[in-house]
Amino acid sequence: MTTKFETHEHDVLIIGAGGAGLCAAIEALAQGASVGVVCKSLLGKAHTVMAEGGIAAAMANVDRADDWRTHFRDTMRGGKFLNNWRMAQLHAQEAPDRIRDLEQWGALFDRTSDGQILQRAFGGHTYKRLCHVGDRTGLEMIRTLQDRGVALGIDVYMECAVTRLLKDGDRVAGAFGYWREQGRFVVFKAKSVVLATGGIGKIYKITSNSWEYTADGMALAYEAGAELKDMEFVQFHPTGMVWPPGVQGILVTEAVRGEGGILRNKNGERFMEKYDPKRMELSTRDVVARAIYTEVREGRGSEHGGAFLDISQKPAEYVKKKLPSMYHQFLELADVDITKGPMEVGPTCHYVMGGVRVDPETAESTVSGLYAAGEVAAGLHGANRLGGNSLSDLLVFGRRAGMAAAQAAKKVRQATIDQTQVDKAEREMLAPFQNGNGESPYAIHRDLQETMQKLVGIFRVEADLQQALQELEKLQERARRMHVDGSRMFNPGWHLSYDLQSMLTISEAVTRSALARRESRGAHSRIDYPSLDATWGKQNNVVSSQKGTMMLRQEPVPAMPEELQKLLADEAEAVAGKGK
Ligand code: FUM
Repeated sequence: MTTKFETHEHDVLIIGAGGAGLCAAIEALAQGASVGVVCKSLLGKAHTVMAEGGIAAAMANVDRADDWRTHFRDTMRGGKFLNNWRMAQLHAQEAPDRIRDLEQWGALFDRTSDGQILQRAFGGHTYKRLCHVGDRTGLEMIRTLQDRGVALGIDVYMECAVTRLLKDGDRVAGAFGYWREQGRFVVFKAKSVVLATGGIGKIYKITSNSWEYTADGMALAYEAGAELKDMEFVQFHPTGMVWPPGVQGILVTEAVRGEGGILRNKNGERFMEKYDPKRMELSTRDVVARAIYTEVREGRGSEHGGAFLDISQKPAEYVKKKLPSMYHQFLELADVDITKGPMEVGPTCHYVMGGVRVDPETAESTVSGLYAAGEVAAGLHGANRLGGNSLSDLLVFGRRAGMAAAQAAKKVRQATIDQTQVDKAEREMLAPFQNGNGESPYAIHRDLQETMQKLVGIFRVEADLQQALQELEKLQERARRMHVDGSRMFNPGWHLSYDLQSMLTISEAVTRSALARRESRGAHSRIDYPSLDATWGKQNNVVSSQKGTMMLRQEPVPAMPEELQKLLADEAEAVAGKGK
């Protein structure tokens, strides 16, 4: 087919240029594929950089007893056993080699005194396991991957947003999108497509995510017929900035607690003693976020509705060396010197454990030729992700996705793209210009964020979730009539009108899944069902589109082989839903 639009052709098209997308690109190139990377922002501007404190990998450089088995066990335990065991196994086994790749490609990690990669403590990890570069690990990783990808010759389409996946029968065949600057439409033909678009943070009001994270990849996959899994599990990082208002939600790395930071309430009490006396500040994120939220709700919060996080007991030079970004962030944005006094912090939406359901070996979704890796994919983290496992996730599964996508591309011909799909995608994008008196996407987005923050947040309850579904229906109706002014050139309101559709679809998936799961597990906390439930402990929620209607069903968590079960033997109580 020839289309009236600018068209590009690749063996493998990668949507998203954060860590997962770049790893997929590097590996697909190594397999001999022609690779195109499309990103709606600038190359290197990715949420990967927000994993500041480190990459989890059982290198055993600091704690010699560490190995993949302990990392596997910690990941499963942190995820409350809803994880796909095979993904957790591959992740734990392959992460150290992926760190070595990074190092070979030029990443400069902090060092032990004997010259090995230094590792630090993080919540839920038994050993000091986080390989790091001060508190700028994600940034160093992106810099390294970017250099490598560019040196190998990836074609990058920057500031280009994909709005639809195109299919040839049941198989993915490419993508339709537009250049953000000029508003011109563009078509990509590809034998395989890898989604690496990151998360959904912008459906919430308080988030560490920047403007790009509008659930695009999950919505693209869902609309193309792929299944989504575990969507109820949204991670609220315990420590975002709370003051001043303009910086609310910006991440305060867990490395502050990893380096000895202490949490206190307004009465000076070290409140983690009440919530997890054994692990204290290094408890898992779900527990620490709920603890801070509870302290605030019960009237023991800080002046601006958070808690105090203090690292000033450590020598100033140590703090500046280990946490240089945090030092500057607080000094410049909040006028607080963290070497002299505490930071004010509170939970911020940071990550989603759920996403596109993928095959653990290949990262292929339930749509042929469509792959997903990194935050957009589900499975590895179960009900709650451990800090630092996001970076190792995208190294391991980004590479696997790139490899499988390139190998599959060798076996198929370039598909035909059906013009009716392209025409439909164009009409959808132009509709907001043609709606008469509809309202602005900004108003609908603001109301969506309020709804999700208030009704589908850290603590959930049936009545709120039901109300959220009703609100979402109203918002969807408003979105059908939304209107944008101006031309297609440099028009952020128009860009948001598309992003909003994705956010509404995925907010519905999160809410429906949260309503269905009548128990509390990991990041999903139901006030009306406060305990683990044995039946729910054995099933994942799966969302799919059936003739345009969102359907939800449960599927058994895949059975684990005996040798891995043995590693978790002491967890039997929790697996059965009896533990905490
Ligand atoms: O706190 C942090 O540095 C974030 C790490 C992560 O999300 O993995």
